[in-house]
Amino acid sequence: MAERPYIVGNWKMNGTRAMLSEARAIDRAAQRYMKAEVAVAPPYTLIHAVHREAEQIGIGAQDCHDGDDGAHTGDISAAMVADAGAKFVILGHSERRADHKETNTQINAKIEAALEAGLRIILCCGETLATREKGDAVEFVLKQLKASLPKIEDAAERLTVAYEPVWAIGTGKTATPKDIEEMHRAIRGLLDETYGAEQSAEVRILYGGSVKPDNAREILSVPEVGGALVGGASLSAESFLGIVVAASETEDA
Ligand code: PGA
Repeated sequence: MAERPYIVGNWKMNGTRAMLSEARAIDRAAQRYMKAEVAVAPPYTLIHAVHREAEQIGIGAQDCHDGDDGAHTGDISAAMVADAGAKFVILGHSERRADHKETNTQINAKIEAALEAGLRIILCCGETLATREKGDAVEFVLKQLKASLPKIEDAAERLTVAYEPVWAIGTGKTATPKDIEEMHRAIRGLLDETYGAEQSAEVRILYGGSVKPDNAREILSVPEVGGALVGGASLSAESFLGIVVAASETEDA
C-alpha cells in the first residue's frame, strides 16, 4: 500500500444532528488506530458540524457542482464545501451516475473544479452485474476512468480511486478477492500509464460495496487494496470502527 490504509465512511442521505455523537465517537476512537487514515463524508447539512466535532478524522462531501457560483438552485460548489470544512469530495459515485445521469465528462469537470478549490478527490468507478456477467467489467471500468481522470499537473497527489461494483453496493454481496485483485491491478496499470509509476504510487485504490467488520480483513489484505469506502456500515461508530480496527491490523499488502 502506498500509505496508511484509508477508511472512508459515506453516509449518503443519512444523518441529522443526532448523528453527531457517532461522528464524535469515531473521531475519539480513531486516535487510537493511527495505522489507518479515517474519514467520513456526511450529507452537506452536517459537514460544518462534523468538522467542528472532529480532531482526528478527515471530513468530506459526497458531491459538488462543477461551476464556481451562479444560478444553480439547490447546487453546492466545491469552494462552498471546502469553506464548510470538507477536505475532500467523493465524485462519480454510482448512485449519482444512476439517479442524476452524471456522465464521465461531467465527473471530470467536477474533479477539476474540486482540485481548483483545494480539495482531494475520491473518484468512484464500477460495473453493473450485467457488465460483469458479460465479462466486460475491466474494460468498462477502465473506460470510465480514462474519460474522467484529471489530467492537470500534480492531480495524482490528491487523488484516490474507489472501485465499487454496483451490484455489491448495499446488497451484502462482495466481489471475490481474485476479482478485486484483477480490477485493482488493471486500475493501477492505467494510473501508471496516465501519471507515471512514481506519481501513480501516491494514489490509493479503495474497494467499496458491502464492506463490513467481518469481511474487512480479507478485503483489505488483497494486493493493491489501499482501503475501503464504506456505506451502510459507516452509519454506526461501532461497525465503522470494526473496519478501522481491521485496517489498522492488516499487514501491508
Ligand atoms: P455499502 O455502500 O457499504 O452500503 O455497500 C458503499 C458505497 O456506496 O460507497
